[in-house]
Amino acid sequence: MTDLVRVGLVGVGTIAQTHLAVLAERAQVTLEFTVDPGHTEPVRFRGGHPPHYPRLADALEAHQPDLIVLATPTDTHAELVGQVLLRSTARVLVEKPLVHDLDSLSRLRALEQTADVRGRLFTAHHFAFSPEVDWAAELITAHPEWGPVTAVTSAFYDPYVLKGPQAFTSYTSSWMDSGVNQLSMLTRFVDLRALTSAQQTDGGASAWCTAEYRSRGAIGTARLRSSWLTGSSSKVSSLVLGHSGVEVWIDHTALTGFAARGGDLLATHGSDGRTPRKIAHYRPLYESLLSDRPDPVLGFDAAATITEIHHTMPRSDDDLT
Ligand SMILES: NC(=O)c1ccc[n+]([C@@H]2O[C@H](COP(=O)([O-])OP(=O)(O)OC[C@H]3O[C@@H](n4cnc5c(N)ncnc54)[C@H](O)[C@@H]3O)[C@@H](O)[C@H]2O)c1
Repeated sequence: MTDLVRVGLVGVGTIAQTHLAVLAERAQVTLEFTVDPGHTEPVRFRGGHPPHYPRLADALEAHQPDLIVLATPTDTHAELVGQVLLRSTARVLVEKPLVHDLDSLSRLRALEQTADVRGRLFTAHHFAFSPEVDWAAELITAHPEWGPVTAVTSAFYDPYVLKGPQAFTSYTSSWMDSGVNQLSMLTRFVDLRALTSAQQTDGGASAWCTAEYRSRGAIGTARLRSSWLTGSSSKVSSLVLGHSGVEVWIDHTALTGFAARGGDLLATHGSDGRTPRKIAHYRPLYESLLSDRPDPVLGFDAAATITEIHHTMPRSDDDLT
């Protein structure tokens, strides 16, 4: 995908604005059309207004895009992915999470009989591309003498309580939304094995889960907290490399990080202060997607693994483990 890339954008809500901003920066990209039944006005892109459709099927009849970006509510992903794979030759970048349940994952797997699912379907695991994650992963890789990551704690807070019921419509639950970000971020550091406990509270607006992983031959546990019961966004993770006493803290809100051992500061990472957080995620994500070799974290196998681990979650507060 290094030549001209004709893009169709499906869903022009919140995260679509980040896609539009990053796509507009890429000279090889043109926006061929947009789709959204909830919007009637065409979207502005580089001073123009590409045609807008209420239905994806109508857009696919009129255009031959190279890439479709799906930025629609989570429970629409599987059905729309199916339409793109079966009614066009385009690749598809679907917002995370790829699907909202395991049945939908099975349906996508079944499409492998008729469509090149592995070659065409990519999931926007954008947290895996965040600069502080990149920095910390490179740092830990460069220091094998620090030993395995023996414990991880990650806390993701979003102010979605302010959105009311709309938050559940767009994102289903805190674990559905943030859990996938936490798991995809962790794949940069460790090999995830399984969810070992899961609690969903506040009607799905909060979660507390633990996951087992393997790191440099050792088994460790990640503790994952997420919640919408806050007025501001805050996302932090800490990685403990217990054999050497090294701790790595990464602040996903500030895009910063540091490593320390006891009272000694070992390494630091700062942001340029100018790049908004989501732009900082999606710029390298698109760089990778539109290259000859997209990062495997965008691929179907990674999304399927993350989905399967993610969906060990009980369905309601009544199912607490
Ligand atoms: N908001 C974020 O920060 C963020 C970040 C990363 C990923 N995501 C993911 O992106 C997806 C969308 O989130 P959002 O925050 O943009 O939601 P949103 O509710 O703001 O926007 C979704 C848009 O999709 C439209 N839509 C609904 N059904 C459609 C259909 N069948 N065809 C075309 N358009 C349709 C809606 O009218 C709406 O405009 C979710 O899966 C979410 O998990 C969101």
